[in-house]
Amino acid sequence: MKTAICQPPADMSPSPLPRVPPLKIGNVVVDPPILQAPMAGFTNYAYRQIVREFGGVGLQATEMVSARGFLAIEERDQSFPDRLWGVRDEPRPLAVQIWDNDPEKLAAVGARLAHEFQVSVVDINFGCPVKQITQEAHSGSYLLRYPERVGEIVRRVAEACHPVPVTAKIRLGCTRNRIVACEVAQNVEEAGAAALTVHGRTAQDYFQGTANWERIAEVKSVLRRIPLIGNGDLDSPAKVVEAFRRWPVDGVMIARAALARPWIFRQAAAALRGEPIPPDLTLPEERELLMHHYDLVVRRFGPEKGTLLMRKFACCYAQGRPGAREFRTRVSRVSTPAEFYEVVHSSFPRVESAPYDRAAPPGANPTA
Ligand SMILES: Cc1cc2nc3c(=O)[nH]c(=O)nc-3n(C[C@H](O)[C@H](O)[C@H](O)COP(=O)(O)O)c2cc1C
Repeated sequence: MKTAICQPPADMSPSPLPRVPPLKIGNVVVDPPILQAPMAGFTNYAYRQIVREFGGVGLQATEMVSARGFLAIEERDQSFPDRLWGVRDEPRPLAVQIWDNDPEKLAAVGARLAHEFQVSVVDINFGCPVKQITQEAHSGSYLLRYPERVGEIVRRVAEACHPVPVTAKIRLGCTRNRIVACEVAQNVEEAGAAALTVHGRTAQDYFQGTANWERIAEVKSVLRRIPLIGNGDLDSPAKVVEAFRRWPVDGVMIARAALARPWIFRQAAAALRGEPIPPDLTLPEERELLMHHYDLVVRRFGPEKGTLLMRKFACCYAQGRPGAREFRTRVSRVSTPAEFYEVVHSSFPRVESAPYDRAAPPGANPTA
């Protein structure tokens, strides 16, 4: 097998922009090829709407949805998991991510999402490193121990969802001493997947260290037909441009950085087009966005549950600004709308500091 295909540029001086065509996942055009990652507990309808309003994102994803949970909730309550909030009606393209280890359950739920909900893409989670998913449910990244099983799952789900494309999201492997991404990638492709996303860490790494883009790049050399989406540590428009310049990926996916800056996709898309990068939001604009986000969440979940749910989202705002820590401490304790308004009114940071790290030098290493 080949190792990293793209070598780092000899000098780190600015070079021409990479040519980055739209990505095709089956019949779904992802333009620009910058994807919003699935994030459990975060990428719900309200968050996705905010990202969509800023633009610059080619494909958005839901939180991961348990296939078993879907079937049980439907049988028990004749309803659907909260994580499918908005999915039926919101604009496309939209990917829904599902997880389990049972090909039949995944196929049953995938088929429902594809044919009844008419989602654009069904993505299968083979990357989650969380104990409840791996050790307890033998799913997520646990399945990377069994590349053949991964292939079997993808084949069944792809058949059931046809013609809606099915994709897989993996990590490099379970442990650092057993990297299986290339083997898994071949099985995924042969089984009929339409794209593969690789997060450049192992499950053992969790979120430690830096994403290994050399290892992501190796996967490209084994894929014949389907696009490769690279993921890990892209937190500025410059790093997105650099990822395309330096590594043989067809698309990139952003997760954590877009929690604090849902407008990062718009910035990255402009950077890829060689246009001026739209500025970060000012603090008053961020505060307004936070209230808009709160409104969307409360309308769906009501004032009490909505306020509690909003704590973690509010903590993502104003990151890196003076006073953000105090705001986080206070907002993570609110329980009522009155408390929420009071904390936002009195503690949301007001003093502008240096802009986010969006001016990283053009030669910046995306793995740094
Ligand atoms: C809070 C949180 C929840 C996540 N939930 C999911 C998930 O539901 N499905 C999934 O495939 N990955 C999930 N991930 C992993 C991300 O999609 C992504 O692969 C990882 O954060 C690396 O990208 P980043 O460096 O841009 O954050 C989650 C990550 C975070 C931080």
